[in-house]
Amino acid sequence: MYEENDLRKFIYTTIVLFLIAVVLFISFIFVSSCGFSLTCSKAQPYVYRTPVPTLIPATMPAIERNRAQTAFNKCQIAAVDLIGAWVSAGYPENDKFSFTDVKGTPCEGSFKKDVQPLFLESNLWYPGALACASCHQSDLKLAIKNMDLSSYAGIIAGSNRANGEAKGKDILGGGDWENALMYQMLYAPNGQSTIGRPIMPLGRPADVPEKGPLVYAGAPIGEPLAGGATPAP
Ligand code: HEC
Repeated sequence: MYEENDLRKFIYTTIVLFLIAVVLFISFIFVSSCGFSLTCSKAQPYVYRTPVPTLIPATMPAIERNRAQTAFNKCQIAAVDLIGAWVSAGYPENDKFSFTDVKGTPCEGSFKKDVQPLFLESNLWYPGALACASCHQSDLKLAIKNMDLSSYAGIIAGSNRANGEAKGKDILGGGDWENALMYQMLYAPNGQSTIGRPIMPLGRPADVPEKGPLVYAGAPIGEPLAGGATPAP
């Protein structure tokens, strides 16, 4: 009898100690991850989401596929040389003008597609650059130097048109590019103006190439699409 009582005590004690240990263990885990909160949801199953967005937000810009694809049949030329070719050809508004690209390929382009973006696009001359037309805008009263570079007519009309004059100061050198004020404001060997005036676009850093960035423009003259036109890198 004595022995049996002893054994029973031993078993009960073991069970009680075990239960206390289990409760302590569980509460330790709960408190250490959730604190003393009862609304903790850490044990809820994790929601797996696919890394591929299945619903693309409607505000995202459309993916520009054509640009990269068509660039392979385009010519490459420094921005200032491209404007120069257009001016030297008599600055046609709609007719095509020819130019030679950096690889020596004969090419042709047009004002609307190839030249005008150089005046209208920001970040083109260097990252962070304002568009020419944001300072030299169509409202002549507000435009710097009362010059409108936002349209063909504005560029042809020139600067100093404070009262909306049809013709201001010619900035295209009458077709003689090297003598054009536009050229002198844009050409910057070693980041320096050749006429001691601020180089354009205003605020342009000295490390921008002297004739501006290389741009894709126009297309090789008379080259069949699959022909010898060297793809631009
Ligand atoms: C942040 C404003 C700003 C931007 C952008 C800008 N310009 Fe200018 N531009 C000026 C200022 C200011 C002057 C007057 C500079 C001076 O004091 O000599 C000027 C002068 C000129 C002139 C001389 C006009 C004259 O009759 O004296 C030309 C040409 C010109 N800019 C062309 C451009 C072109 C081309 C671009 C784009 C590649 C451009 N500008 C971008 C502010 C700007």
